[in-house]
Amino acid sequence: MAIDEDVKSAQMEDGILEVIHQRWSPRSFSDQPVTSAVLTKVFTAAGWAASSYNEQPWRFLVGRRGDTTYEKILDALVEFNQVWAKTAPVLILSTSKTVFSANGYPNPLCLHDTGAASANMSLQAAALGLQTHGMGGVDREKARKNFAIPEDFEVGAAWALGYPGDPDALPMIYREMEKAPRTRKPLREFVFTEWERPAEG
Ligand SMILES: Cc1cc2nc3c(=O)[nH]c(=O)nc-3n(C[C@H](O)[C@H](O)[C@H](O)COP(=O)(O)O)c2cc1C
Repeated sequence: MAIDEDVKSAQMEDGILEVIHQRWSPRSFSDQPVTSAVLTKVFTAAGWAASSYNEQPWRFLVGRRGDTTYEKILDALVEFNQVWAKTAPVLILSTSKTVFSANGYPNPLCLHDTGAASANMSLQAAALGLQTHGMGGVDREKARKNFAIPEDFEVGAAWALGYPGDPDALPMIYREMEKAPRTRKPLREFVFTEWERPAEG
């Protein structure tokens, strides 16, 4: 049975962008293929993220099920993620350039900005009816080796991308998580005027 989107959609105040309501991280993906046109839109959205000095430090490796890029990303995931991520039609690995291209100085915000690009990617995907699922559970050394990633790039996160599938197709341990409502910290726990003093209103 398909997922109840009302359970997964974020409960939040009116006036928040619709696509923020819609985005969530499934572990079950349908077989519906993701077209090249959709991938182009998703990565175009990623590329329009803001970045420090407009460095655009992100580089994304993208694989489709059946190709070697996909196999190399899947191979680098921890087992907990491999079990479900192999149902996704597309796997992505984000990497980030750790130095500024103009002068070779360290870019301490490279992963920050790659995260921003990844968030754009996720929201654009949700707007098109797809979903993404980020994965920090990656063997970074294996990923680096599988793709011969140069030393001045850091491995970021892996991402599964596709149309959400049947939660009951997942092994039992993932099913409950797939159907559970999503929760967030209240604003007072992360918006301050002084350290740990919640901002009013
Ligand atoms: C950078 C990043 C790393 C994550 N790593 C994993 C992971 O290794 N395995 C996993 O199952 N989920 C992973 N997640 C998914 C989070 O658990 C999920 O985003 C969070 O529970 C909030 O749920 P939501 O995305 O549906 O709002 C990751 C998410 C992000 C953004």
